[in-house]
Amino acid sequence: AVKVVIIGGGSSYTPEIIEGFIQRQATFPVREIVLVDIEEGRDKLDIVGRLAERMIQKAGADISLRWTLNRKEALHGADFVSTQIRVGGLAARALDERIPLKHGFIGQETNGAGGLFKAFRTIPVLIELANEMAEICPDAWLVNFTNPAGIVTEAVLKHSAHNKVIGVCNIPFNMRNSVAEILQTPVERVGIEFIGLNHFVFGRHVWVDGIDRTDDVLAALNDGTDYSPANIVGLGWSESFLKSLRMLPNPYHQYYFQTKDVLKKDLAAYEQNGTRAEVVQQVEAQLFEKYKDIELDVKPEELEQRGGAYYSDAACNLMDSIYNDRGDIQTVNTLNRGTIRDLPDDAVIEVNAVITKSGPRPIAIGSLPLPIKGLITNLKTFEQLAIQAAISGSYHDAYLACLMNPLIQDEKKIDSLLRELFDAHEAYLPQF
Ligand code: G6P
Ligand code: MN
Ligand code: MN
Repeated sequence: AVKVVIIGGGSSYTPEIIEGFIQRQATFPVREIVLVDIEEGRDKLDIVGRLAERMIQKAGADISLRWTLNRKEALHGADFVSTQIRVGGLAARALDERIPLKHGFIGQETNGAGGLFKAFRTIPVLIELANEMAEICPDAWLVNFTNPAGIVTEAVLKHSAHNKVIGVCNIPFNMRNSVAEILQTPVERVGIEFIGLNHFVFGRHVWVDGIDRTDDVLAALNDGTDYSPANIVGLGWSESFLKSLRMLPNPYHQYYFQTKDVLKKDLAAYEQNGTRAEVVQQVEAQLFEKYKDIELDVKPEELEQRGGAYYSDAACNLMDSIYNDRGDIQTVNTLNRGTIRDLPDDAVIEVNAVITKSGPRPIAIGSLPLPIKGLITNLKTFEQLAIQAAISGSYHDAYLACLMNPLIQDEKKIDSLLRELFDAHEAYLPQF
């Protein structure tokens, strides 16, 4: 039997993962779930915990559930620990989005300066958790959803005592589902070769039963099909972009390849509705009102308004395949170890991997395709600098990370941007 510990259990997303465990009871016997949160999240944790309890009861599932603020105690005997935390909450995210925008840069929670500061706040917390796991539950897998997921996963692998760590994102999972819909094929028959980094991943090939259907998907994108999640409004791709690149972009690529248009779009959206964090705060408030309703005993549909919708399928499939030693292919964030020749062995990349009980075994890519090689190696360098800064707490390291990020880069503007972000987030950056 399996024990799962969910760090950030008071998250509004939790009903999704609970549903995922309930649905998989027959093959993936999760018998114990502990939801963990921090003092500030106590009320949310209580509400989510009670809803999860009703869901389990309604389904008649054989799962014992509890919730606690005592993380160390919760970790004992864990088989899987999943993390879905947001250090500083949505208020901090709003600052990550608003401040760069004010300075003329993209303001986004996982890209550019916003993503950098999210990494600074998050990395020390995740390293501490991973070190606790190394002591208390050394055999447990850490399934990390905490953004920026690729950077955080690499930081934990480099700087903690725990090495059973896998980063996960719903983007590749959702892209595969969308492609199945585009091609009107059951998703099990669709394969996409993913290459890159978290939120900077490309689909090099799409296959259905071994037949290359990449061009058909590109044609659908060219006709305006959009597979962006709720948090990113797609602006569509030009015919030349799609026909020249001949790879599937992911929704986050718009920040890099349509920077000026996105800046305009985001500014307009900001003036109308505030930042995405503020929109999400409203969605959350409504969700929690619903969650309190003791009549509610299933996952509410409104969760689909969140960009992270279906994250739990990615998480549950991964845990299921590890537990059952399935050897199927899933897209994960894992150590490169030669998979992509142009990147360091200790870099975390987002690629397809065979999932067995000993974890993910990434499928070789070879050299990066020339058109995407520059940006991927550039962004990996940024990620390495970001991790270095998050650990050292050095202003100059933080400056270098900004300098090497294609969404920031503008050297004389970095000081004032950094100053405001450091000020705003001071309470969550003990290392600086
Ligand atoms: C995407 C990303 C997630 C991110 C989410 C944000 O799906 O893959 O990493 O957390 O969007 O969604 P939100 O509803 O919070 O804006
Ligand atoms: Mn993601
Ligand atoms: Mn091809």
